[in-house]
Amino acid sequence: MVLDLNKTKMIHVLVTGGAGYIGSTLVPMLLDLGYRVTVYDLFYYGSESLLSCSLNPSLTLIKGDIRDELSLIKAMENVDYIIHLAGIVGYPACSKDPELAITTNVLGTENITRNLKLNQRLIFSSTGSCYGAIPEGFCTEETPINPLSLYGTTKAKGEQLVQQVGGVVLRLATIFGVSQRLRLDLLINDLVFKALTEKKFDIYEAHFRRTFLHVKDVARAFLFAMENYEIMKNEIYNVGGDQLNFTKLDVCNLIKEAIHDCVITPSNQGFDADKRDYQVSYEKIRKLGFEPRISIRDGIRELKMFLPNMSEEYISKTKNF
Ligand SMILES: NC(=O)c1ccc[n+]([C@@H]2O[C@H](COP(=O)([O-])OP(=O)(O)OC[C@H]3O[C@@H](n4cnc5c(N)ncnc54)[C@H](O)[C@@H]3O)[C@@H](O)[C@H]2O)c1
Repeated sequence: MVLDLNKTKMIHVLVTGGAGYIGSTLVPMLLDLGYRVTVYDLFYYGSESLLSCSLNPSLTLIKGDIRDELSLIKAMENVDYIIHLAGIVGYPACSKDPELAITTNVLGTENITRNLKLNQRLIFSSTGSCYGAIPEGFCTEETPINPLSLYGTTKAKGEQLVQQVGGVVLRLATIFGVSQRLRLDLLINDLVFKALTEKKFDIYEAHFRRTFLHVKDVARAFLFAMENYEIMKNEIYNVGGDQLNFTKLDVCNLIKEAIHDCVITPSNQGFDADKRDYQVSYEKIRKLGFEPRISIRDGIRELKMFLPNMSEEYISKTKNF
């Protein structure tokens, strides 16, 4: 049990969007470490992702909307940390319903920051999509951001709101790997799925440089920010690893190495609305002691092991748009 030594009570963490791809990996880790955890989520993809923690007395689930300020205020009572994951995620999902994206990603975040108490600690899940097209193609946290998609714009606005109240912003690389609530709309997960099921796929913008991070390392980054909150507060951190900066073609070669009979064809059809083609520096968080542990090869291996045997019903819930 993790105790607040001044009050000798369990440290209480509110996780918005805690049943999602990241949340369903993070929440069991928080519970294992002895935190009390409340998940506040609309459960767009159900609550099954948290079934493995069902008997844990330190877990509470609230079906709630971050756009509903009164309900949120109630959930924020007696909470020490807020890990804010809830959102409409990715540019396809945001473009599909722009109003939902803006009210959720911006107004929902504002509801949290407006009601944050002085002693509460806030950690926000942001994205490299905030960078947009970077002329020099190399990003540190000092690089001016230039979001291009509605997703990137709403997340950048969320970052500003969180910075105004002194929270920690984690700007995450593109995530890969399996989780209790799997997403197959993420680049590596999607390509491995296609390689396994269709045995072929086309790849556009093959030489674009991207940056990746396993979902378990993402969860570790949130734990790291909690443990190092006093040094990390008021700041933005790129979260990933220099060894996980790859071109899309590099990723394809790793997939081919694992799934030999897959045919990969470079294509001119298609583009990334966020124009992500950059190398990201992770020096700032690495200097504090955070390093990812899981490689893309390991992630491809676990996807290759699990995806072929997943039920169609489960697979049908894995896309966010
Ligand atoms: N997965 C990635 O590659 C990635 C990368 C960078 C940043 N992020 C950020 O991390 C966060 C979580 O992403 P994820 O991949 O776990 O997404 P996800 O879609 O799997 O999970 C989002 C969760 O938020 C919930 N939710 C949505 N609207 C809500 C609302 N109005 N009120 C309460 N709950 C609501 C959903 O039900 C879902 O459980 C997002 O903020 C996203 O922008 C994700």
